[in-house]
Amino acid sequence: MVRICPSILNADRSNLVGEIAKISKESDYLHLDVMDNIFVPNKTFTLEESRKIISDSVLPVDAHLMIANPDQEAHLYALAGASSVTFHLEASLQPAATASNISQAGARVGIALKPATPFHLLAPIMQYIDMVLVMSVEPGFGGQSFMSEMMPKVAEARLEIDEKYFGKIWLQVDGGITLQTIVAAKRAGADTFVAGSSVFNAPDPGEMVALLRNAASIN
Ligand code: DX5
Ligand code: ZN
Repeated sequence: MVRICPSILNADRSNLVGEIAKISKESDYLHLDVMDNIFVPNKTFTLEESRKIISDSVLPVDAHLMIANPDQEAHLYALAGASSVTFHLEASLQPAATASNISQAGARVGIALKPATPFHLLAPIMQYIDMVLVMSVEPGFGGQSFMSEMMPKVAEARLEIDEKYFGKIWLQVDGGITLQTIVAAKRAGADTFVAGSSVFNAPDPGEMVALLRNAASIN
């Protein structure tokens, strides 16, 4: 199973409905990067703006919260209709409670790890989550280069997911995904891929999503 989630971070924000229409047939989720200028040095969509995008989107929304206070706010994105809500382990004081609040609000739960955060820190909360997100760039901006040195972390997560959780937890990679790097991420064990600039800078974004899926489907 391969899931492709285009990120609209670097899409034309003045015409998001048009941008989403370009990739909706080929994509599984719309990846929405929420940044607060505190957890990361960049600001994107507020909760209000996210609510509007979620209601306008024909695709289910995969919200990636790069915010300093997920314990207070993450479930609000689930209540706003996001299908999946991912928050950063580094920003959370009570990840199990936040995971449970998101689940109770009806969304899948993801937890993201910045490049310097080791996978083993997730051990106590794996049982509460539906997806692990291994960042393959420092969160904050689109268009950065893929950190291939994160692939051992992806492989470690894949092993643990298969051995202890029957393969049921999705494993997402976000940052620098292209037609080349998606192959490395797939080989390391990822099944869910975020791609921003490679999709929206392509002449035909929908076709690029299909090409990415194809590249990730070859073993
Ligand atoms: C980075 C974001 C990513 C970003 C990916 O902090 O979490 O989702 O949009 O963009 P690309 O694919 O250009 O690295
Ligand atoms: Zn993201």
